[in-house]
Formats: sequence, structure tokens, C-alpha cells
Amino acid sequence: MAATALAEAPADAPAEDAEDTGIQAFLVTFIIRRFDPEVDEEPRWVDYDVELYSTDRVLDALHKIKWEVDGSLTFRRSCAHGICGSDAMRINGRNRLACKTLIKDLDISKPIYVEAIKGLPLEKDLVVDMEPFFASYREIKPFLIANSSPESGKERVQTIANREIFDDTTKCILCAACTSSCPVFWTDGQYFGPAAIVNAHRFIFDSRDDAGDVRLDILNDKEGVWRCRTTFNCTEACPRGIEVTKAIAEVKQAAMGARR
Ligand code: SF4
Ligand code: FES
Repeated sequence: MAATALAEAPADAPAEDAEDTGIQAFLVTFIIRRFDPEVDEEPRWVDYDVELYSTDRVLDALHKIKWEVDGSLTFRRSCAHGICGSDAMRINGRNRLACKTLIKDLDISKPIYVEAIKGLPLEKDLVVDMEPFFASYREIKPFLIANSSPESGKERVQTIANREIFDDTTKCILCAACTSSCPVFWTDGQYFGPAAIVNAHRFIFDSRDDAGDVRLDILNDKEGVWRCRTTFNCTEACPRGIEVTKAIAEVKQAAMGARR
């Protein structure tokens, strides 16, 4: 069913919602790819009509479906504010965070398609097994490795300019939107993927870290940074606006320097 404006505010909404603010509720159709491994042999698409306001987000729609229509709908979310990275999913074919995708930014004259991110094993409905993703992340040693200790009672100091070099890649929330939008990752489950490289970048270019060469060696592997085909899907998918492809290019350059 196509999205329809509702004349009346929902019965349980405060009276002033529709009258004072002029905000109208809409009926929006969601088509969600469901999969229950205990029942289904293959995923199936299921339609839901949900009453929403344009200020609502896709996450609000999923909550409404789960709480009011079908409690078995399964998805991950925690913070609901774009910080924890747990609700990355494909919304109308694009990787996004459900909690940061406003209904008003989607074309609600058509159904909204929601499915799990690609390239990772599907567990149930919108939940995938994130372990392969985190295994790659762990491999690049995502922590500071320093050969010396700071002066007693002092911090490890760094200039503003040096901090700026890796500022962008500190913003990663490990949502996997980039890695699971990468065609190389879809076809080759061994590729480290953009998120692991972004997090390697964060330490390779940190002047306080002494293990950049170790990480570059790891990413010089045949499943490492050279598998990137510069499709920019990762940069488009990143909900934090990180220039993922640029970070990968910088790691490639550093790897070439390390080879000389
Ligand atoms: S780089 Fe962006 S898309 Fe990739 S995991 Fe980090 S926050 Fe998510
Ligand atoms: S629920 Fe935490 S980022 Fe969306």
C-alpha cells in the first residue's frame, strides 16, 4: 500500500500533536526481508503498513512493528542516536543507520525496503554475524603500541598538526556500513575491508604510535589494502562522513613507502 496522509492524529497521541504543530501522520509501507533460521529455508519479504510522522526515523518504524505488530522482528540497536553503530542495514538498497534515517528523507510514495547488510552471514531478519568483521578489525591491532613510556606523570604529547592527520579516521563507530557495501568484500570474504583499513589508518598516522610498519605489513597481504578497487561505495555508505576511500589511498601510499 502506498503512503497515505492521515487526517487524524493517532488515538494515543497528545491532542496538540496534529492541531498545534501541524505535523501530519502518514501511513508508510515497509517491506522487510525476514529470515528465521528455525522455520525458513530462504529469506522472504513481508509488508507492514506503519503510521509515522515525518520526524520519525526508520528505527521508530521498526520499533512500532516489533512492539505493536510482530514481536519476533529481530534487529540490533542500542544508542538510537548514531553513536553505537549497531543498526546498520540496507534501506532502499543503500547502507544506512536506521536511527539516523529520517522518514522525511525517503520517498514515502513508494514502499521502503529494509534488509540486512550484505557480505556477512545472515543470522535472523536484520541481524548478521559480525564476527568476521571484528576479526579483521582485531587483526590490524587497533590500539596504541608505543616503544617508550611517557615521562612520569606526563601525557604523550602531540602537535595539533600531527593530530589533524588522522582526525577523520578517529570518528569510526564500527558499524560495518562501509565494509558491507564493498563489492570486493561481497565476493571475497577474506578481504580485510574498508573499516579495518580505516582503523589501521587511525594508528599508522598517529605520531605517538610505533607499530605503523607492523600494520602496513599486515595490510600488504594479498587480502589487504591492494584489493580495494576504489569504487567509493564505502565513502558513500559511511554515516560518520569519513572519507574512507581517501584513508585507504593514504594507507596504500604509506605501504608503498614502507616497501622501498
Ligand atoms: S568507516 Fe564509517 S561506515 Fe565504516 S565502520 Fe567506520 S563509521 Fe561505519
Ligand atoms: S542505534 Fe546506535 S548507531 Fe543507531
